[in-house]
Amino acid sequence: MAGASVPHEESPVNRSVPAASGNHDFTGKKVLVTGGLGFIGSNLARRLVDDGARVTLVDSLIPEYGGNLYNIAGIEEKLRVNISDVRDHHSMKYLVRGQDYLFNLAGQTSHVDSMQAPENDLEINCRAQLAILEACRQHNPGIKIVFASTRQIYGKPDYLPVDEKHLPCPRDVNGINKMAGEWYHILYNNVYGIRACALRLTNTYGPRMRVKDARQTFLGIWVRLLLEGRPFEVWGGGQLRDFTFVDDAVEAFLLAAAREEADGQVFNLGGCEVVSLRDLAATLVAVNGGGMPEVREFPADRKRIDIGDYYADDRLLRATLGWRPRVPLREGLRRTLTYYRKHLTDYLGRDP
Ligand SMILES: NC(=O)c1ccc[n+]([C@@H]2O[C@H](COP(=O)([O-])OP(=O)(O)OC[C@H]3O[C@@H](n4cnc5c(N)ncnc54)[C@H](O)[C@@H]3O)[C@@H](O)[C@H]2O)c1
Repeated sequence: MAGASVPHEESPVNRSVPAASGNHDFTGKKVLVTGGLGFIGSNLARRLVDDGARVTLVDSLIPEYGGNLYNIAGIEEKLRVNISDVRDHHSMKYLVRGQDYLFNLAGQTSHVDSMQAPENDLEINCRAQLAILEACRQHNPGIKIVFASTRQIYGKPDYLPVDEKHLPCPRDVNGINKMAGEWYHILYNNVYGIRACALRLTNTYGPRMRVKDARQTFLGIWVRLLLEGRPFEVWGGGQLRDFTFVDDAVEAFLLAAAREEADGQVFNLGGCEVVSLRDLAATLVAVNGGGMPEVREFPADRKRIDIGDYYADDRLLRATLGWRPRVPLREGLRRTLTYYRKHLTDYLGRDP
């Protein structure tokens, strides 16, 4: 299968796809988004503002992460931004009060950074998550929470596509801490009745992702180098992946928040097709109308934590919430390149 682009829709696991319902209404609802100035959080915030929600974003704007004030350009006046750290218990206990929904996306996302500074990853992705849940338990137990989890918790898959029953076996510190963060949410749902669920995201991409470097996603640095007319490196190249366009991920967050069937559940998210990284690079170059991918050996520090091939079985999400990805890879890449052709410099500044 390596080297082939396989439409998810044709694979047996994705055959019976109910139509996406989109049945959620956030009009007038009070919504808190942690990590709201980041890639997925800001795209989610835009949808919520459009839907008439009363949105507050919490973000620490730590320069190494994906937060960027430019991500909310044009909607600054329509929401509130609180620059604070989710590790700050005092801030969080005030911020969760009175909210109807919490989209909990703040996180340290770099796998390599999690190995170089494991305790920092622990503080943000694990300890702070427990503190947020405690703040909810004590000050707003009626809130509904959707947590941004990751496919990283599975480690190197034993079988493909990976369903939610696959044994978690993280290959890096980030995967372990995200797994703990996820399970605290499910525990608080089960023990305290604080409605919570988790979405195990796969590679998510699109406008507003971090492109300055590869900290958030290798696709980010590919896009940057491509648009700067420079060669970009593809490590290995044969690995299979699925990619979710950010608008599809946002729709899953909204459905998970709105629907009670999601409570206490963890869901995989996939994309429209499965593709090797070599073919992904070729598609990106084709959509751009030129580019210089260079296939290289994995650097040693990456190789040690690489997960090999991965793609999700997301039938549970499709069946439970009626979600399905709508933006094919080629179209998603086109929209991404269009965005960064216009806004690249806003993502390269020294500070967010
Ligand atoms: N993008 C993906 O492919 C992907 C895949 C799997 C899981 N996820 C998860 O989705 C969530 C959002 O990811 P993203 O891609 O938008 O990344 P991102 O880095 O753009 O967003 C995370 C945001 O959290 C903020 N943040 C980090 N630590 C914080 C702290 N201590 N206090 C307050 N804010 C803090 C950052 O400033 C950033 O704006 C993360 O939790 C990540 O683990 C993302």
